[in-house]
Amino acid sequence: MTETGKLKLDDKDLELKIEEGTFGPKVLDIASLYKESGMFTYDPGFTSTASCKSKITYIDGDAGILLHRGYPIDELADNADFLEVCYLLLFGELPTATQKEDFDFRVTHHTMIHEQLTRLFTGFRRDAHPMAIICGAVGAMSAFYHDSIDITDPHKREIASVRMIAKIPTIAAMAYKYHVGEPFVYPRNDLGYAANFLHMCFATPCEEYKVNPILSRALDRIFILHADHEQNASTSTVRLAGSSGANPFACIAAGIACLWGPAHGGANEAALNMLEEIGSVDRIPEYIARAKDRDDPFRLMGFGHRVYKNYDPRAKIMQKTCHEVLGELGIKDDPLLDVAMELEKIALTDEYFIEKKLYPNIDFYSGITLKALGFPTSMFTVLFALARTVGWIAQWNEMIEDPEQRIGRPRQLYTGADKRDFVPVSER
Ligand code: SDX
Repeated sequence: MTETGKLKLDDKDLELKIEEGTFGPKVLDIASLYKESGMFTYDPGFTSTASCKSKITYIDGDAGILLHRGYPIDELADNADFLEVCYLLLFGELPTATQKEDFDFRVTHHTMIHEQLTRLFTGFRRDAHPMAIICGAVGAMSAFYHDSIDITDPHKREIASVRMIAKIPTIAAMAYKYHVGEPFVYPRNDLGYAANFLHMCFATPCEEYKVNPILSRALDRIFILHADHEQNASTSTVRLAGSSGANPFACIAAGIACLWGPAHGGANEAALNMLEEIGSVDRIPEYIARAKDRDDPFRLMGFGHRVYKNYDPRAKIMQKTCHEVLGELGIKDDPLLDVAMELEKIALTDEYFIEKKLYPNIDFYSGITLKALGFPTSMFTVLFALARTVGWIAQWNEMIEDPEQRIGRPRQLYTGADKRDFVPVSER
């Protein structure tokens, strides 16, 4: 028996289908609304709009729950490695030992990029923001991997997905090396995913670079925390770009561009810059006051979330990882961490933040951790993009395989000028 909802309009009553998922809010199917009522819905920012059906990730913002294919994020962060989570997001199940070995082998053996693609980097200024460089390099992959851009062929889509997951760390590391003026370091097949990335970033031809296993495990966990997050702005961008039939590399480049914004993935860079600007614990009240002042555009970066109206479960694990990394590196009193911990403590007891349900999000502690690992602030969002690539590509595949999906083409409420005749310039 189909559940329906009644919509009472001036001249007619509509009956709309209601659908229920595994859990979470039900949806009112309004696809026929325009045809039956001549009206659109209006929801800028899509605060009440489901754009798709998905089996990949579920977030309960009030309870602070994040599940990937049903598995809680803390259980994955504690027990899985990043490529295991990549397999889970892509194929829907945790891999068996054989499947894991095969997937790890395939990804490892696709980590090199076409040698011609390395020429693209030298066209950038050395001080170009690494996000600008990876956005260009990922888009340029469309020019090199023609044999895997037929989106109608599931086998080709899987090759493109493995290539994207495998090559994004190499591209990200090359953007870093180009930015700091050091020679590119090729990937190594004897290193794991996160360890390979650390090696490509911090090894030099001058001496043996030994990857610290505690730090590479911490980075691998940070990648897991950033892997996917249902229909966030950049994932929705990838889905919308993909809905036109654009090739997967162009769609991921679009996702990178969207993630760069300070309200989204750029918040980890902005949060660290904010902590540095605050500088000391005694200046926190001044910035809390600014964050609460509606006339001041300043916001606490790394705080608040469209969905989480409780503590972001990833932020808790991020904070634990931050302490683990600082401990391993022997960083006892990091002034930025002192400011962050005190800022969090004050904000969580402040009436304004409580009323607006503003909690630390994943970007609040990631900057301190990534800085301690040796990355410059400008690389923080690059690492977010590196990790989120698997989420984007998994959601892109799901969109292509969804029979209900068609080209995304929202409508609008027109509030512009009435129809009028052209006036020649001589009469204006
Ligand atoms: C990510 O969507 C995802 O899942 C994203 C992400 C992912 O994994 O993909 O989780 C990653 O992008 C995390 C968010 C990172 N961004 C930041 O930390 C930037 C600071 N946060 C804000 O810009 C804001 O909280 C957003 C953008 C995250 C959410 O914005 P919303 O949902 O549109 O909420 P809003 O801006 O309407 O805020 C509601 C109220 C407003 O006050 P009123 O207009 O109602 O009076 O809360 C206030 C805001 O002014 N507010 C803040 C605040 N965030 C919201 N006030 C001070 N500091 C803040 N950080």
